[in-house]
Amino acid sequence: MSRVLIIGAGGVGSVVVHKCCQVPEVFSDIMLASRTKSKCDAIAAKLPRPIKTARVDADRVDELVTLMREFKPELCINVALPYQDLTIMDACLACGVHYVDTANYEPRDEAKFEYKWQWDYQDRFKKAGLMALLGSGFDPGVTNVFTAWAKKHHFDEIHELDIIDCNAGDHGQPFATNFNPEINIREVTAPARHWEGGKWLETPALSTAEEFDFPEGIGPRKIYLMYHEELESLTRHFSGLRKARFWMTFSDNYLRHLEVLQNVGMTSIEPIDYNGQQIVPLQFLKAVLPDPASLGPLTHGRTCIGCLIKGIKEGREKKYYVYNICDHHQCFEEVGAQAVSYTTGVPAMIGAMMLLTGAWSGAGVFNMEQLDPDPFMEKLNLHGLPWTEVIL
Ligand SMILES: NC(=O)c1ccc[n+]([C@@H]2O[C@H](COP(=O)([O-])OP(=O)(O)OC[C@H]3O[C@@H](n4cnc5c(N)ncnc54)[C@H](OP(=O)(O)O)[C@@H]3O)[C@@H](O)[C@H]2O)c1
Repeated sequence: MSRVLIIGAGGVGSVVVHKCCQVPEVFSDIMLASRTKSKCDAIAAKLPRPIKTARVDADRVDELVTLMREFKPELCINVALPYQDLTIMDACLACGVHYVDTANYEPRDEAKFEYKWQWDYQDRFKKAGLMALLGSGFDPGVTNVFTAWAKKHHFDEIHELDIIDCNAGDHGQPFATNFNPEINIREVTAPARHWEGGKWLETPALSTAEEFDFPEGIGPRKIYLMYHEELESLTRHFSGLRKARFWMTFSDNYLRHLEVLQNVGMTSIEPIDYNGQQIVPLQFLKAVLPDPASLGPLTHGRTCIGCLIKGIKEGREKKYYVYNICDHHQCFEEVGAQAVSYTTGVPAMIGAMMLLTGAWSGAGVFNMEQLDPDPFMEKLNLHGLPWTEVIL
């Protein structure tokens, strides 16, 4: 029986609230707070049980602290934007609240993400006897747990890791991103970076592609090398990794639109003067693109996200693949959201559940792979993200 505060009433936040409501024995009191309270109320109106809602500006520690002192949560799930990670962590420390998020901190004025800023909170969380669980989405999140599971049950040494994220769904829109457009485009247009031979290698964004044959009828798709935040923590925590890469599929249509938008300067985060007003082109673009939360009823097809791992077991080379397939339409039927929000929101709920039930415990800042993967893997099967493993 626990009180949980969920911050962010977007596509992911809506799924988190729906999934927490399904487990009243763990999440007995729920509050959804966001910048726009009407969005929280619209989500609350669709839920099977009552929750509290509130307006909060999560950029402001004082507002967060006031809200936390009023509601007195044991845990806060941050599914606002990466820009708010540090202010929400500060408020959690001030109020004695555990912290869970799905994306690492990113400064608003620089398209750069790394764990350093949040890892720097290690001593403060430890001293306060609180846990901060970082990156409890799908990737990062489940992909970290998949890797820890593989190491625990299938390998003595892991040498190569390829995280492969496929969205084989179609929303029928000329151009839309399936999570927050600003964060998505900052991530996709960043240089690709992968770990090889003990160092990071950088290549231009979307310049390296291969074909991968996805299972269960999804079939061959082009995958593009990218940088993704879980590579930073996984290479730190699995020091035997010789190569670690992250790949994602994109449709030709998405890439064509993105190229044009980049060429005309619409993806820039440098403010420009427009009629005497400073505007950031990427933020303006976000305002004209479809809201990812609105794509739910339009999206069909499936996602397939998994880890392809090579290493050694009992002196022999082994190749292993673990993945989840998620159907956009089934997600919409269950919680009114498409699969990208669903595959992020379910692990955020499970991460919170691990902490609140004591399945995962400890004081300090943790990445997902540092904790026992077994209870989390079990809950994935029970709460809508079943996984399959194959020895290749
Ligand atoms: N790990 C993964 O697998 C994964 C995958 C996808 C997404 N994510 C992460 O999930 C998070 C949510 O994504 P999303 O697609 O749900 O985004 P979204 O639809 O844009 O929702 C973000 C929500 O946060 C609210 N918000 C923004 N700034 C705020 C502030 N200062 N104070 C209070 N609320 C604020 C927004 O309020 P308004 O509605 O008023 O703008 C919005 O409701 C992002 O951090 C994203 O990077 C993780």
